Amino acid sequence: MEEEQEYLFKIVVIGDSAVGKSNLLSRFARDEFDHNSKATIGVEFQTQVVEVDGKEIKAQVWDTAGQERFRAVTSAYYRGAVGALIVYDITRSTTFDNIKRWLDELNTHCDTTVARMLVGNKCDLENIRDVSVEDGKNLAEEEGLFFIETSALDSTNVKTAFEIVIHEIY
Ligand code: GTP
Ligand code: MG
Repeated sequence: MEEEQEYLFKIVVIGDSAVGKSNLLSRFARDEFDHNSKATIGVEFQTQVVEVDGKEIKAQVWDTAGQERFRAVTSAYYRGAVGALIVYDITRSTTFDNIKRWLDELNTHCDTTVARMLVGNKCDLENIRDVSVEDGKNLAEEEGLFFIETSALDSTNVKTAFEIVIHEIY
């Protein structure tokens, strides 16, 4: 028998607490959203099969706590990652200001070949937006990242965000 799933890609999701990392993952992997999700403690991951150019790719997406005190061993989290989603909340500019710190951490643990996507989440909350699309785009350009705005709540661009990263790895 031929092995169908030839590729397994590890993708990490990082960013401040409550930006919506866990909900992006549950939307992507199970099409679920939780209005009352609790802060993640430690590390969780989900696998999802994605088709790229007719090939089945298993995306193993890792999610950890944004809060320092709930985080597990950092080096283990990043080990073997080939893609990263660096997430902020478009309604809280502090989460955007912290992107540089998350990039520093990513750069410390992974080499530059890791496919990186800057993700401005909660774009359904346009009425209380605190970070402009322009600012997101500019930062992404400066840092050499892909850029997208998403909503885990209404599903906007969630699949696309992961697919762009997976496609780039592939
Ligand atoms: P930590 O695990 O603490 O790092 O947080 P997290 O980044 O995993 O955030 P989580 O997914 O738990 O979401 C935090 C809160 O934001 C929850 O109340 C979610 O329901 C809400 N939320 C997440 N994504 C969205 C979104 O796209 N739009 C809106 N309006 N709310 C969202
Ligand atoms: Mg979480």
